[in-house]
Amino acid sequence: MLPLTDKDISLAAELYGGSFSRAWSEEEIYKLTRLPGFIGYICKDGMIILNIVADEAEIYTICVRPERRGEGLGKQLLKEGISRALEKGAKKIFLEVAVDNRIAINLYESFGFIKVGIRKKYYNNTTDALILAKEFL
Ligand SMILES: CC(C)(COP(=O)(O)OP(=O)(O)OC[C@H]1O[C@@H](n2cnc3c(N)ncnc32)[C@H](O)[C@@H]1OP(=O)(O)O)[C@@H](O)C(=O)NCCC(=O)NCCS
Repeated sequence: MLPLTDKDISLAAELYGGSFSRAWSEEEIYKLTRLPGFIGYICKDGMIILNIVADEAEIYTICVRPERRGEGLGKQLLKEGISRALEKGAKKIFLEVAVDNRIAINLYESFGFIKVGIRKKYYNNTTDALILAKEFL
């Protein structure tokens, strides 16, 4: 897995579109890569994107190609993204995840993320989002 650069944008859009019902366009991903706090890692079967502002990082997305799930790639991506965020000065990392996304919640909990809030009907005006966070001392 390598840092996500301009040459990876079409792969990133493909990976995202294969994992989420609302796809991200290449343009949207390009804009993310231009954020001052952008952090991205990608390989042919998965990616993670975070953004860091001051000492707080947010995980914008993590996804693994459906046929390659359950092989440890999600963990590797999360580990890499967290390490880079800490190198860039993050003291806290947070994210939003649908309450019914048990696999992702398990992944985050296994890294020590804990629930710090809930956004009601956040997804499609139906499903609640959990806000998970982890602080680093
Ligand atoms: C969430 C996602 C990135 C995990 O990627 P993955 O490569 O399958 O994950 P891993 O193989 O590294 O497994 C990591 C952990 O996830 C959890 N997990 C993985 N597969 C699981 C399953 N079938 N059931 C329950 N938990 C599961 C476990 O906690 C696992 O750790 P363990 O192996 O020590 O038990 C992947 O499922 C995905 O792309 N989902 C769709 C996109 C998405 O929902 N992203 C998160 C949005 S917030």
